[in-house]
Amino acid sequence: MDKLVIGNWKMNGRRSANGALLAALLGETACNRRGVSVAVPAVYLADVAAQLAGQSLTLSAQDVSQFADDGAYTGEVSAAMLAEFGIEYVLLGHSERRQYFGEDNRLLGAKFDAASNAGLVPVLCVGETLAEREAGQAESVIATQLEVLLGRASGHLVIAYEPVWAIGTGKVATIEQIAAMHAHIKQWVLQNAKGADSIRVLYGGSVKAENADAVLSTPNVDGALVGGASLNASAFRKICEAA
Ligand code: G3H
Repeated sequence: MDKLVIGNWKMNGRRSANGALLAALLGETACNRRGVSVAVPAVYLADVAAQLAGQSLTLSAQDVSQFADDGAYTGEVSAAMLAEFGIEYVLLGHSERRQYFGEDNRLLGAKFDAASNAGLVPVLCVGETLAEREAGQAESVIATQLEVLLGRASGHLVIAYEPVWAIGTGKVATIEQIAAMHAHIKQWVLQNAKGADSIRVLYGGSVKAENADAVLSTPNVDGALVGGASLNASAFRKICEAA
């Protein structure tokens, strides 16, 4: 299966800058193809969907409401609303959402269901903190976060392993650390969340043009979830080329 690269813009961008960045990406065959997607702030989904119409680069969302049905949920964006814009993937449980918005497994389970029932592919993000890794708890922390998948895994499963200590810090996990954790994740899924037609595990955490080849050629790395470098067309193109 082709590797998957998702650019997570996080809470960055302005309309004019987004248009210029996307125009640059659409002009690059490495970026404007299936297997490459950009997860943009919700307020820009309509603009970006219009610009991506008829193109191969796809659109993703950074979050979704746990509430599937329309109703009095001020500030929320439902999976059905996202589906109207042709969203392919939706990020779930990014460490920034776990840290700043208190997202836990119960909430993420509801979001996972809402997304999959609307035909979106959830990307479950997991990752340990530095303290957890230093305490030898990295694998057990990840296993606990993966429990969201119990009784749910079906279809095309996408998990993003993002060690919290490597996000936006310039510190990339070593190839050995990445290979070991990706193998652990796949083994956990095969043992506990049977029934997925395919499993892809992306790596995220300071992926840049300079390290993309090494990261993306690591065993069991099926793609990348890219933050900061996805805001730069040249850097993102190089990462897409490495995929
Ligand atoms: O979603 C992306 C990850 O949080 C990685 O971000 O590439 O800026 O470290 P980063």
